[in-house]
Amino acid sequence: MTATPIDPTATPAWASLASHLEALASQGVDLRSWFAADPSRAACLTFEAGDLRVDLSKNLVLAETLALLTGLAEQVGLAARVEAMFTGEHINATEDRAVLHTALRRPPDGPELIVDGQNVSADVAAELDKFLGFAARVRGGSLTGVTGKPFTTVVNIGIGGSDLGPAMVYQALAEYRGPIRARFVSNIDPSDISSAVADLDPETTLFIVASKTFGTLETLTNARLARSWLLEMLGARGVVTSAQSAADAVARHFVAVSTARDKVAEFGIDPVNAFGFWDWVGGRYSVDSAIGTVLAVTLGPELFRQFLDGFAVIDTHFRSTPFARNVPVLMGLINVWYVNFWDAHTHAVLPYSQHLARFPAYLQQLTMESNGKSVRWDGSAVTTATGEVFWGEPGTNGQHAFYQLLHQGTELVPADFIAFANPQAPLADGGQDVHELLLANFIAQTSALAFGKTAAEVRLEGTAEALVPARVFTGNRPSTAIMAPALTPGVLGQLIALYEHITFVEGAVWGIDSFDQWGVELGKVLAGQVTPALAGSPEAFAQLDASARAMVEYYRANRRR
Ligand code: F6P
Repeated sequence: MTATPIDPTATPAWASLASHLEALASQGVDLRSWFAADPSRAACLTFEAGDLRVDLSKNLVLAETLALLTGLAEQVGLAARVEAMFTGEHINATEDRAVLHTALRRPPDGPELIVDGQNVSADVAAELDKFLGFAARVRGGSLTGVTGKPFTTVVNIGIGGSDLGPAMVYQALAEYRGPIRARFVSNIDPSDISSAVADLDPETTLFIVASKTFGTLETLTNARLARSWLLEMLGARGVVTSAQSAADAVARHFVAVSTARDKVAEFGIDPVNAFGFWDWVGGRYSVDSAIGTVLAVTLGPELFRQFLDGFAVIDTHFRSTPFARNVPVLMGLINVWYVNFWDAHTHAVLPYSQHLARFPAYLQQLTMESNGKSVRWDGSAVTTATGEVFWGEPGTNGQHAFYQLLHQGTELVPADFIAFANPQAPLADGGQDVHELLLANFIAQTSALAFGKTAAEVRLEGTAEALVPARVFTGNRPSTAIMAPALTPGVLGQLIALYEHITFVEGAVWGIDSFDQWGVELGKVLAGQVTPALAGSPEAFAQLDASARAMVEYYRANRRR
């Protein structure tokens, strides 16, 4: 869809939202009085999508606000854009590609999906069977290392979308893992791979090289380092003694996941052990493709399918639920409300689940690589602010760190709180269920942010007058509370799909291509120019700016060999 995007700021809904905001400001935005005036507010503003219960009532919205926001969605053509994505139109305009991560988790009995002459549904099913079958054989011990020992550790080498999703899910679903453990190597910092393999047995280690392009500096460098480590270690044990035995060892201990199968073969990985996906899956949308092979090995094929089913539940909800009850649509629009009408620059994601510690980092790539753009999909400048900074840490840790700013700072920081009714680890401290302490904090924080504490209430506590201002909480600090029964593979799939579609909705309103990432290119190219300067090339050095030259000089003066 390369047609000129509709300028959201030129729609009647945008003008109405601006007037609505003025009216709210003159009446006073006050969650306390809104809750008092409307006893059904919490119920009316709580929605369900699959297993997710999403309470929007502590946001700075009235029913009228949501109606205006959904009007905005209609006026920018969101419904058509959603259909365009699901049916494979080339909505990734700058790369002229379809955007079909939703095809990776379509129910197998659904109608065929043919896009650009490709039978997408059949290809997805075949590749899924292939990597799940591989995972089953690794888990069952029929695929072994070169000395016949079963694999005990799988090392996923990838970065960005080829790392963050699998690493986040591996941690989130710790209770569901089988005996094979995983390690994740992403950074070009050599300490990453060296510490990851330091205590591993080469005979029982399987490497998965995960790279959509198979051209990423970090991943290919780490893959070569891993190959050298394997051959050196096996050489020291007398297992690798010739070029042929080295090739055999690489073939047995390395598999790859990529869209570029030719480059995989060049690396020496047996094409039989290469799992593919397609250019219509963006890296940050690929955890549910073969990029999840490390998860299929560690969690097992059955749980991986449950994970995919979770995504599908939210896909169906997103595609078929009217905007007024459509959770990703409402959450995406509320984010637009804060970014464009309330001048919010960041958005906190606060999982009250230690297992979701990497979820905010995962979301940073999903949201910020997607919507951190200044031009629209036709190349014209955006007409309003886009792409808020997503960040977060698990609760309750964050409460003892940055929540001060959330409660009393000058920035408005909308926050998503996430919690589960059932704990990962059901422990009691004496008679106290510890999970209830966690949930009490989760619930209390949303109330404290929303309702605050007035000066009168502070005085009533006997606070000295001079300290009253410092102890006042203004309240009216927005949050969304997401709850689910438990952090299962299916629920995690639902959560990820929820945020994928929230991101989509925001991008659609702003008219941007949420599926390209040209902004990552310049730094990569310049790094290629700096590398020879660090190694001593005077020609490369001369090309650098004065600041960069000084850093190179500092490095060369201080590097010890
Ligand atoms: O540089 C950014 C990026 O292209 C991401 O979009 C991607 O997820 C990551 O690098 C890794 O890319 P690849 O999977 O091709 O190695």
